[in-house]
Amino acid sequence: MISTDFAPNEKMDDAIVSFKTLFQPWKWRRGRELTRAKNRMKSFFPDHEVFFFLSGRSALYNLLQALHLPKGSEVLVQAFTCEAVVLPILALGLKPVYVDVESKTLSMDLDDLKKKLSNKSKVLIVQRTFGMEPIFLKEIQEEAKKNKMFYIEDLAHGFADTNKTSLNGAAVLSFGRTKTLSSVFGGAIITKNKSFMKSLKSLQTSMDLPPIPFIFKILLYKPLSVFIKKTYPFLLGKIIHKISVSIGLITPEISIREKRGEFDPLLNRGLPNACAILLLNQLGKFQKISTKRRESVKEYEEKLGVIFKNLFHTQSAPLLRFPVAVENRDEMVKKVAKKQIFLGVWYNQVIAPKGFNLNKAGYIPGSCKKAEEVCNQILNLPTNVSKKERARVIQLFQQ
Ligand SMILES: Cc1ncc(COP(=O)(O)O)c(C=O)c1O
Repeated sequence: MISTDFAPNEKMDDAIVSFKTLFQPWKWRRGRELTRAKNRMKSFFPDHEVFFFLSGRSALYNLLQALHLPKGSEVLVQAFTCEAVVLPILALGLKPVYVDVESKTLSMDLDDLKKKLSNKSKVLIVQRTFGMEPIFLKEIQEEAKKNKMFYIEDLAHGFADTNKTSLNGAAVLSFGRTKTLSSVFGGAIITKNKSFMKSLKSLQTSMDLPPIPFIFKILLYKPLSVFIKKTYPFLLGKIIHKISVSIGLITPEISIREKRGEFDPLLNRGLPNACAILLLNQLGKFQKISTKRRESVKEYEEKLGVIFKNLFHTQSAPLLRFPVAVENRDEMVKKVAKKQIFLGVWYNQVIAPKGFNLNKAGYIPGSCKKAEEVCNQILNLPTNVSKKERARVIQLFQQ
């Protein structure tokens, strides 16, 4: 089974660490691993402070809240994103203003950004889609500075190649199960901006942690998902997966409340020590995973570059997923699933997932034409895969 969406990061060593922690409940809520994980993260962002949360969306919510913006302030965010970015904005009574994407790195388009600025624009969120470096990064940063907007870089899709960026505002990270490093749930704010550090520090110590059954399910996820992946080809995995989801043993990435278009306070919590334990194991092999992702991207560029006239600006970076645009996307996804190859469709709606109420999110149809077009064609190839698995994916296109 080759999977882009289901537990792409979880390997046997992750499953073992998680399984052991299941029998050490005294380590689940608080512990020294939180400090150790924080220090490891700080080594990627020297001179910055790291604040952990239960999810990337929780990090964004608390960051925006700490800015104490007047109600109705505008937050510029790109279309071709997910609801986890938009719900915190709406929950705080702020107004998301959607900026179209450019076609090279699927990040904010500079011209459209300039058109959508107003005197109410207070925050600008730049997304590194799949981990690609936005082609207008410098210009967008300058625009934020010129217009006195608070600058947030959304590094949920990866931060391996971002050291050259000066984060003079803040960055938001995610350690969700489908991201570069997985602690199943997790997120962080990275900043060196002193103006709101104090309030974030006190928030960190006072924030509620998720309930014990929630932490139990986080720990169960890694061994369970590894078992499912290993036995999927023999049907057993498929059955166990179905049962686990239906009886709630696997907590979905997007809650029922979020699917209805509401911010879910259950995911707005502090990060439990159990997640820090899982994160530390992933951090221990971060270089190895990044190298693998980089190798995948290089090979996809080389082999698929012959087939696709215009590849995205992937630049041999260790991307979370390798994007390609195909005409018959949904048909292809279904067809290759029969071969046990599950490709991704981030993002198949301007604010994903499909079915999310765009009207409620304040998106005006036709306001981001490029994003709307890309949503129908985008296909994501997995990058955290072996050479053999990569060859199977490449073969799909060569046929
Ligand atoms: C671009 C982007 N930013 C932020 C998030 C939020 O991360 P989390 O799922 O940890 O809340 C996501 C989630 O998929 C995302 O795709």
